[in-house]
Amino acid sequence: MTIYMNLQLTKESKKKSEKNNSDHFLNDVLTGLQSNPKHLSSKYFYDKTGDELFQKIMAMPEYYLTRCELDIFKNKTADIAKEIRADQQPFDLIELGAGDAMKSTYLLKHLNEKGTDFTYMPIDISGNILSVLENNLKKQLPEINITTLEGEYFQMLKKAMKMSSRRKVILFLGGNIGNMTGKDAEKFCAGLHQLLNKEDIVLIGFDLKKNPFTVLNAYSDKSGITEAFNLNLLSRINRELGGDFNVEQFEHYESYDPITGACRSFLVSLTDQKVKIAGETITFTENEVIDMEVSQKFSKFDIKHLAEKSGFSIAGEISDSKDWFVDSIWMVK
Ligand code: AVJ
Repeated sequence: MTIYMNLQLTKESKKKSEKNNSDHFLNDVLTGLQSNPKHLSSKYFYDKTGDELFQKIMAMPEYYLTRCELDIFKNKTADIAKEIRADQQPFDLIELGAGDAMKSTYLLKHLNEKGTDFTYMPIDISGNILSVLENNLKKQLPEINITTLEGEYFQMLKKAMKMSSRRKVILFLGGNIGNMTGKDAEKFCAGLHQLLNKEDIVLIGFDLKKNPFTVLNAYSDKSGITEAFNLNLLSRINRELGGDFNVEQFEHYESYDPITGACRSFLVSLTDQKVKIAGETITFTENEVIDMEVSQKFSKFDIKHLAEKSGFSIAGEISDSKDWFVDSIWMVK
């Protein structure tokens, strides 16, 4: 009986949070499309179709980022272990946006072989991907202690801080920090700093500035996968918010500014058109754009600046063999 009631409660609160989530989605979409210039948030790219398209992006020859960071986790695992001071006090290894943990599994395996005392705590907004991850790890590395945390980064991080007082090592991989504009990235890092304690460590993946053609090509593939990835957000608005976008009347445009390091994705309206979403009408003029996503590229100096601005000191830096991507290791001063 008690168990049954708990289940009911969980279902109820799940429904409630799904409702809240879709309210947020609608709100953000309308606010963004009623602004000038129009914008949408790339955090909404990742529904089921979006997840699949992103998997395809990661497999594209042009999209070098995945291979670079995989090179680091495969071939420089011992360096990572050393930089996060794996041989010192036991710790909680927390991964923000763990997904399927493809890269971090190399580190987990290494730590396990060395008999390191740690608990792995993957955080993700998708409960579905977390259960896949947990099942895989239980098969591959049954000795590892794992606690999955489903929810928003900061909420789950707070929960993890309450669950144990061991030192924390945070992983934030994949260049995800690049999706934040300068100010937001600063706020995010300062927020991390505020939650953590002295000697805690953060490992963040940064995509470095490089030949501008290389960057631009990674985000404007000829096969049209990146375009489909962007257009899928319009389809998602149609599916989930009852919008009536004609996605064929939009085209993807990518730009890269090698000075600021901002790689930006836009959708261009191919005609004058009106779109209805939840009773609101949005008017587009021909060639008007929606600002969809920023994928910021960094210099090593930019990284140092961000670390210092948010109260961290850089303890180490591990690059791939091409020096295109860096996992930067920061410590709370
Ligand atoms: C998942 C944020 C790292 O910005 O490189 C890939 C997303 N967008 N192609 C990135 C993305 C278009 C990706 N991140």
